[in-house]
Amino acid sequence: MPDISTRADLEVLLRHFYGRAFADPVLEPAFETLAVIGVEDHLPVMCDFWETVLLRTGDYRGSAFAVHRALHGRHGFTALHFDRWVELWTSSVEDLFDGDVARRATREAAKIARAMHRRLLEPAGPQTTGVPSRFS
Ligand code: HEM
Repeated sequence: MPDISTRADLEVLLRHFYGRAFADPVLEPAFETLAVIGVEDHLPVMCDFWETVLLRTGDYRGSAFAVHRALHGRHGFTALHFDRWVELWTSSVEDLFDGDVARRATREAAKIARAMHRRLLEPAGPQTTGVPSRFS
């Protein structure tokens, strides 16, 4: 199996992952809006994010934490959601890719998920800037 090496690889991986997340009983409610409006507008943002993390060629300037803080407000994420997300992401990567970058993709995702979950358990405080207007 090839390693992840281009933005096109990330797009293939993300489409595979979303196909599974949309059908997953634990994650489906959180992904419902995205499933309805479709992933086409969202994919470039996700490719930017993973290009930035893995390939160092991306230009992600979003606020992933603010987005998930808002999603958490609606869906009340627990360890179950994060564990399931990491499990689906890891198996999606392993279905399609093998190599150093693929291993970093699973390792970094697990680290980010842990950090995100830990921060979500902290009180929201005043730092709710950066939440995109679609959440207000
Ligand atoms: C409980 C687990 C998670 C769920 C249910 C979840 C769900 C979602 C959903 C529904 C969106 C789209 C929000 C919107 O645009 O309306 C989103 C965006 C995003 N997610 Fe997650 N996510 C989870 C964990 C993660 C993790 C662990 C990462 C990183 C490794 C991640 C990275 C991102 C990024 C980069 C965006 C785009 C944010 C932006 O618009 O700039 N997510 N997520």
